[in-house]
Amino acid sequence: MSEVIYMNHPLIKHKITMLRDERTGTNEFRKLVEEIAMLMGYEAFSDLETTDVRIKTPVEETVQPVLAGKKPAVVPILRAGLGMTGGILSLLPNAKVGHIGMYRDEKTHQPHVYYDKLPPFIDERLVVVVDPMLATGGSLIDAVDEIKRQGGKRIKCLCIIAAPEGVRAFTEKHPDVQLYVGALDRCLNENCYICPGLGDAGDRIFGTE
Ligand code: PRP
Ligand code: URA
Repeated sequence: MSEVIYMNHPLIKHKITMLRDERTGTNEFRKLVEEIAMLMGYEAFSDLETTDVRIKTPVEETVQPVLAGKKPAVVPILRAGLGMTGGILSLLPNAKVGHIGMYRDEKTHQPHVYYDKLPPFIDERLVVVVDPMLATGGSLIDAVDEIKRQGGKRIKCLCIIAAPEGVRAFTEKHPDVQLYVGALDRCLNENCYICPGLGDAGDRIFGTE
């Protein structure tokens, strides 16, 4: 059963519009990506389990909830996913961080893995995969394939902008993974760029255009 959750918060919508604007420079773009990731994470983590612990306040002893289970793993898809990592870590400061390096071949648009390093005991952690763009879906599909191959079971993916083509391909391949989408755009163009989109997320985050 596939689960795609579309963000409906006015702050997320506003910030995504700022992100799309071609006049938004690298510094502002980076800040916005981080802030949007944090706002999306806030929504995406509303179902995390808690467990009760006994603590002492300055007034009395009490039993109160804390997050249950092993520390989560945040896994940015390089490069552009790195821009979202700080936002997620501000919510889950104890999380481990794994990396999956992928690039799309400019001619074939096929994804290629060039690096991958995940935290140990990945099967016991919530895995939060972050990548601002879901275009054809190829990169995210391959990244989740790799995480599952290494044992990942409970996976949430956060993408700021998605094309319908990418959402369809991803949910067909990974119906068991929760996909959080900041904005669903119209379509892909002939170069597999999202329309209206925001251009090349990696180049805009790192100023490498
Ligand atoms: C972008 C983006 C995704 C991918 C999405 O990365 O960050 O990883 O494209 O496209 P897809 O859904 O068609 O696979 P890119 O390949 O441009 O690499 P970069 O982040 O290093 O710039
Ligand atoms: N990757 C990007 O950075 N932008 C797109 O529009 C599609 C893929």
